[in-house]
Amino acid sequence: MCGIIGYIGKDKCIPKIIHGLEALEYRGYDSAGISYILNNKVKTIKSEGKIANLKKLVTFDENAYLGIGHTRWATHGKANKTNAHPHTVGKFTIVHNGIIENYSEIKEKLIKEGYKFKSETDTEVACALFDYLHKNEKDILKVLKKATSILRGSYAFGIICSDDPNSLYTIRNTSPLIIATDKTGNFIASDVPAILKFTNKYILLDDLEIAKLEKDNITIYDKNLQKVKKTINTFSQSFESATKNGYEHFMLKEIYEQDEVYNNTINYYFDGTIESLENSFKYLNEFEKFDIVACGSAYHTGLVGKYLLENYANIPVNVEVASEYRYKKCFYDTKTLVILVSQSGETADTLAALRKAKEDGIKTLAIVNVVGSSIAREADYVIYIKAGCEIAVATTKAYLAQVAIFSLITTYSSYKNKQIKNDELKSLLEEIKSLANKIKETINNYKTYFSIADKIYKNKQIFFIGRGIDYAISMEASLKLKEISYINSVAYQAGELKHGTISLIEKNTPVIAIATDKNLIEKTISNIKEVKARGANVILVSNTDFKDKFYDEFIKTINVHPILESIITIIPLQLLAYQVAKNNECNIDKPRNLAKSVTVE
Ligand code: AGP
Repeated sequence: MCGIIGYIGKDKCIPKIIHGLEALEYRGYDSAGISYILNNKVKTIKSEGKIANLKKLVTFDENAYLGIGHTRWATHGKANKTNAHPHTVGKFTIVHNGIIENYSEIKEKLIKEGYKFKSETDTEVACALFDYLHKNEKDILKVLKKATSILRGSYAFGIICSDDPNSLYTIRNTSPLIIATDKTGNFIASDVPAILKFTNKYILLDDLEIAKLEKDNITIYDKNLQKVKKTINTFSQSFESATKNGYEHFMLKEIYEQDEVYNNTINYYFDGTIESLENSFKYLNEFEKFDIVACGSAYHTGLVGKYLLENYANIPVNVEVASEYRYKKCFYDTKTLVILVSQSGETADTLAALRKAKEDGIKTLAIVNVVGSSIAREADYVIYIKAGCEIAVATTKAYLAQVAIFSLITTYSSYKNKQIKNDELKSLLEEIKSLANKIKETINNYKTYFSIADKIYKNKQIFFIGRGIDYAISMEASLKLKEISYINSVAYQAGELKHGTISLIEKNTPVIAIATDKNLIEKTISNIKEVKARGANVILVSNTDFKDKFYDEFIKTINVHPILESIITIIPLQLLAYQVAKNNECNIDKPRNLAKSVTVE
């Protein structure tokens, strides 16, 4: 989604801003632009498409020391140069992440005041509003404060006013924004990677706080324009963690990191003993049921979580997509824990679902990767997964770490609710501790998955089927494949196919069948035979050997305790999706139209 970088300091700003924009590329965008102050005047350069296009237009050596840059992921209006940010109206030039919900009504009023608009964007309207308010109020801080009472929606703004060419202003509501400082000057950015080359120290701006950055000073104000002191955070991962480190793609690198990520995540909460799980998760005992709310792959981890918690811990779980949950009637009560799952911790719908639950007095738990993100900060309880920086738009290691957390809390709750015998618990605890080796072994078997991918990558559609937890895994496997390869792919409950979708199966249609749940394998095999009888090319993923060969290709997964099985099963399917996309020459790390962090609803 859109990215913001701004700099004011002793160094020339253009190289820093362009570097920041490149570091934000992973978020997904379709145009880019930069504005800077040169000889007390604002100069703006924008281009459609990649930052490489913008780089051809800028002069890196300009004597400019204050500037803002933006990568735009189109929301209001097409992805073109006119709609690209920054926008200038009157004395104000701004970049914006988020969506101004009431921009149409503000625009109408401003048109009556004589404003004319060039773009279709809500951002240009916000910019005009700042300019309009500034006509009667010369204090820019007061202008911004007043604007927050008018603007509805989510925003993080980087703002330059030509009346004050030695200051960079910023304000946020819901959309993330950080402020950072190095020995040459000060930055604003939507995300840590943008500034990581220059500094690992940053400040998180809270909703409705306003910051004024000068070359050697940062002042932050609360919504009443009282100065506030903020904590300086240190980003502990290295710059290396945000680079490809020799891998062809971030996605591949991140898949290969999964054994380490698994260990980092579980070791934070678990030392091999049930007592450590008790210490980490005892607050869960206050609740009788869970609502798991998330988007995309994080939602799919919730589906796995539901299956695990219901089957092995006897806890009823309701899983919902956040964009639906935030507007629906919820039947939660004080015995419900609402669990928000999010890699970025900034997904707008998930954040809104969290706020809704909190407003209704319901306790919330965030399972999040990005430390200090909005969802992590606002939830009552937080479980951090330790996935490190995830750059590829298609999540892999964060998904695996989220599933690992559901496995851990299921193990704990199953013990607490007396759903597991002592012997089984003992061996499960040992298996949890040593699973990283099996994750590594599964990754190292990549040649099997790649050879199957080589046979199916030209197909126009690929189906996934499974029952129970295998259906939950199918959902994620199917999303992984379609988001990076653009091949139409749908996941079905294996028993549901014959109620309509089976009419799409013809000779050689790939059907990837996942069958790891021992209680359901027989049933899934019957469904596999139904599609096989109609000519499907069946790729079976299972932890079990079969006497009959009712499939065309077989991916054998390692047999582990059912609470851990889904951690292993997803790996071949991530690698298969990767290789299919690679064979199709797709832009694997930055698939078209997608954004890493979806900060608009
Ligand atoms: C999956 O590969 C996608 N990147 C997407 O579905 C993602 O999981 C979703 O947008 C939720 O993001 P979050 O985990 O940052 O909240």
